[in-house]
Parts: sequence; C-alpha cells; structure tokens
Amino acid sequence: MKYSENISRLQPSATMAVSSLAKKLAAEGRDIINLSAGEPDFDTPSFIVDAAIAGIRSGKTRYTPASGLPELRRAVAESAVRSSAGGWTLSGENVVVTAGAKQSLFNTCFSLFGPGDEVLVASPYWTTYPEIVKLARAEPVFLTGAEERDFKLSAEDLERARTPRTRGLILCSPSNPAGTVYTLAELREVARWARERDVCVISDEIYRQICFKDDSPVAPGLLDLQPSEVGAFVVVDGVSKTFAMTGWRIGYMLADAGLASKAGALQSQTTSNAATPSQVAALAALTQRDAASAAIHEMVTAFHRRRDLVVRLVGEKLPSLSFLQPEGAFYLFLRVDSEYSDEISGSAEWCSDVLERKGVALVPGVAFGDDRYVRLSFATSDELLTDAIERLASG
Ligand SMILES: Cc1ncc(COP(=O)(O)O)c(C=O)c1O
Repeated sequence: MKYSENISRLQPSATMAVSSLAKKLAAEGRDIINLSAGEPDFDTPSFIVDAAIAGIRSGKTRYTPASGLPELRRAVAESAVRSSAGGWTLSGENVVVTAGAKQSLFNTCFSLFGPGDEVLVASPYWTTYPEIVKLARAEPVFLTGAEERDFKLSAEDLERARTPRTRGLILCSPSNPAGTVYTLAELREVARWARERDVCVISDEIYRQICFKDDSPVAPGLLDLQPSEVGAFVVVDGVSKTFAMTGWRIGYMLADAGLASKAGALQSQTTSNAATPSQVAALAALTQRDAASAAIHEMVTAFHRRRDLVVRLVGEKLPSLSFLQPEGAFYLFLRVDSEYSDEISGSAEWCSDVLERKGVALVPGVAFGDDRYVRLSFATSDELLTDAIERLASG
C-alpha cells in the first residue's frame, strides 16, 4: 500500500506502546508494575460523573456547536481568568473545546504552521509535539536549556535556535517528562523574546494544577503575565489530568478569537464537537468550584506525597542514578546512562531489560528526546512505587 505524504514521517505514540506492552505481559500472567502510564490512578470525582449521567438522562446527547457548548466555553474562559494573575479579558469566543488537549495541540499546529515553517520544541518534550508539527508538514526544531537550569529555556537559548523560518514555540510547564516548572520570571523572559520576534507561544499547561512548590500551589502560566507582555499565544489545557478524566476526552485551547474561530472551523470539518456528555461533565468540573477544589486537593496531596516517597527511595536505593527534582506533574525523569554497556546501549534497551527481568515498565527517554533518561510515572499507589523501586535496586 502506498501511503500519503501526510503521514510519511509519523511515529506511533511511544508512551502508549510501552503501556500496551506492559498490559499485554500482565494479561499473560506476568507480575508487572506499570509505571509508564501518563494518567492519574484516581477515579473521576463522583460529582462530575453524576453531572454527566444527569446530562445524558436529560437528553444532552446530541451535537453541540463544533467549538463546544457555549456555557462550557464561557466556563473555560472564566476559570482561566480567575486562576491567573495577568488581568486578561477573555470570553467563550477565545475558547475551543476539543477531544482532549491533544486535539487542541493538533488544531493549533495545523491552523498555524505549514511547509517551510519551523517550530521550536523545548526538549525534553512530550512525545506527541514533534509528530503533530510534522503532520502540519512543518519542521520541529529541538532545543534544550542548560542542565543546571533543569533544561528550562532562556532567551539566549531561543535566540540561538531561531531562524527566519521560526514561527512557533511549544513549551510545557509543569513538564512532561521532567516535572520542571517555569517561574513567572522565566516565563516572562520567554514570552518577551517570542513577542518581539513574532513567534507564537503554545503553552501546554495541562499539569498546571499539579504543582508541589510551596510558594505556588498552581504553577505559573502564560496568563499570569500581563496581556502587554505576551504576543501571539495559545494556552492548551483540559480536564484529563486535573480531574482524572483521561478517558472522557475533553481539552481546550485559549487563543485570540480569530485563531479560535479558525481552529473551530477545522474541527467542524474533521471531528465536530467533543462528546456532548463529556462536555457536560467538564462543565461540572469547572463550575462546581468547592467540590472541584476538594477533589483536586485530595489528588494533588497524594501526588505530592508520592513524589516525596519516590525521591527519597530513589536517593536511598539507587544512589548511582541522578534525576531532576519534579516540581509538578507526576513523573520522575531518571538518568540511567551510567548503566549503559555493549548490550544495553540506550534507554529503549534499558527499559526492555528492566521490563523483562524485573517486571517494571518505564518509558525510554529517547521518546522524549533524551536517550540518557527514562520516565517513571508516580501516579500509582505508594505500595507499588515502593515495590517497583526495590525491584529496580535488586541485582
Ligand atoms: C504534556 C501533555 N499535553 C497534553 C496531553 C494530552 O492530554 P489529553 O489526554 O487531554 O489529550 C498529555 C497527555 O499525556 C500530556 O502529557
């Protein structure tokens, strides 16, 4: 079969591939601890589930406008304004509701970029970014900040990577896979650089509410900056991680009304609206504020405790492996290249070996642009995390 140029460079999702292999081995009876998944291990809070069921029973089962229920678009805008310090004026017209944050990223890149364009991707990166940029037939250009800055980008890093074809920058804070969090000052420096060079900042803030910094329980986001400090932008967010709703498939993008309208038109000709009952569920998540805060607090407290546990256990039991201290999200990016040898020459072989011999599934760092590391998800129970690290430490 001859396939289209459209998908000629497309790679399947590496994180999903490891997760599927781990599930397959477990189904065959192997004792596998799966630390590869990128999703909370909690159930969706019951007030959200109840709202969706009530919505289905009351007939919220038909098409909505392609860009989403007007009340949900409004709620997304209001929640973004409320949770940010920049004093932005945003309305439903600035929002497109999508089938997961992934579709927001796709709609954004497909609407903004094309052949000849370069899009800077902060590395280590979430594995989907380069693939989406390539689907738009643009070029991903990877750049990494200094290791002592936890890979976070400075204006000088950006300037070094810039060419006349640079049109966009994809940033993720808190980061998947590294858990690093940009400070507001660091974000300001990046935003100012981008504004002055007419580069659109695509800020993936899907882990924003999962933050462990004492001084900021919610990670700084682009909308914490003043509107005058930010040029062209898209903020990508959603309910998948914050509300343990990965399977409901609701994400959203916030952008200027012109881009939101283009992205909405693209969606109207591709997938139409995100599933209506899921939109009703997301509306409850964003508007029932007391219940939402309590649910987020419970989950983030658990992630924080597990972060501390994993950091302590890895320090004690795997002292030869270094890692970045996760300040948000639920991943530990563990540097394992000190264990490479003739047989195990990279992160993929290291992960296969550990899966085979010790029954622990991790994601190779090569999928995130850094072959020296592997990603460990701590979105699972304290007991399984303890067992997994003991297995990793065993001979
Ligand atoms: C950084 C990042 N952005 C976006 C997504 C996609 O989220 P969704 O499941 O809402 O499409 C993920 C999911 O793993 C992610 O880690």
